Amino acid sequence: MRLEDIKTITVLGAGIMGHGIAQTFLMSGFPVRLFDLKESILDTARAHIAKNLELFHEMGLVKKRAIAPALKGLTTTTDLRAAVQGSDFIIEAVSENLALKQDLFQQVESFCGGDAIIASNTSSLMLTDIGARVKKKERLVITHWFNPPHIVPTVEVVKGEKTSDETVDTTVDLLARIKKLPVKINIELPGFLVNRIQAAMAREILDLHEKGVASAADIDKAIKGSIGFRLASIGMFLTMDLAGLDIWLKVCENLTPKIQSSTEPPRALQELVSQGHFGIKSGKGFYDYTLDFSKAELDEAVRKRDTEFLKRLKALYWDN
Ligand SMILES: NC(=O)c1ccc[n+]([C@@H]2O[C@H](COP(=O)([O-])OP(=O)(O)OC[C@H]3O[C@@H](n4cnc5c(N)ncnc54)[C@H](O)[C@@H]3O)[C@@H](O)[C@H]2O)c1
Repeated sequence: MRLEDIKTITVLGAGIMGHGIAQTFLMSGFPVRLFDLKESILDTARAHIAKNLELFHEMGLVKKRAIAPALKGLTTTTDLRAAVQGSDFIIEAVSENLALKQDLFQQVESFCGGDAIIASNTSSLMLTDIGARVKKKERLVITHWFNPPHIVPTVEVVKGEKTSDETVDTTVDLLARIKKLPVKINIELPGFLVNRIQAAMAREILDLHEKGVASAADIDKAIKGSIGFRLASIGMFLTMDLAGLDIWLKVCENLTPKIQSSTEPPRALQELVSQGHFGIKSGKGFYDYTLDFSKAELDEAVRKRDTEFLKRLKALYWDN
């Protein structure tokens, strides 16, 4: 399957990730079939996509006249066969459950055409396991999107043991075509690439916080205004080259033996979770939230986040 052969996209699962992935393809003119278990979930997904498109328009990323055709390109269904038959690129974004994804992949292969690419948006499972019952394993790939998927540019493209180069190349081309920033991951490792890096940073931050080096708010402030500020524009390798590798070597010689290297899950997270503190959804995490957070307030918090992210997307990645 080559980029020019891809005419129709199917997204399986219309939750947090699925509806945003569908929106991204719709914005680039691809017809999308969105599948989930219930009509009510699909109706909510359609409403979210419509609202998101309006916000993209308000922020100057989508023309008003492009909204109606994008929404017209969306078909929703609870019939898996109808969702998949004749589709060229199928992405599953159903709940993170191995047995569920294995069943789905097997059924999808039995319904779809011979050449269709089948992708998973799993964050933690191995493609080799998810695709264990698929016959043509060369067509399988992981596309790991980041929340909110219709805004965050990077998508990790992970090759399984048997994934063909053609499948990877076509997937990368397709993602670039819809204005994403595909990154090829050549070896299938748990956490792929970005989540491993993020976990290493979380381990150090949680340790510094536990030691009382700074408050959570001050640690957040320090990161946002320093490495976060820089990394939005230049990556780590360029950062090191610009500063001088001799300096970086000295810093690493001094710090590497002293920073956190525990192989246990961070204690602070274990303690908060065991006390029922799950973050915003339970009213307390590292910060305190009002316990009776209304749906309108939550929607407003998400809108504020998306507005901030869209400003950055426009400044750094979007050319119309
Ligand atoms: N949420 C994130 O930040 C994030 C980031 C990257 C990757 N992921 C991955 O994306 C996938 C989806 O995550 P999410 O956060 O969107 O979950 P979610 O719970 O918001 O959505 C999952 C959807 O799958 C549907 N579903 C469940 N079983 C199904 C089935 N048999 N057929 C069709 N639909 C079914 C559910 O009804 C639900 O709408 C997971 O694999 C997750 O690990 C999530």
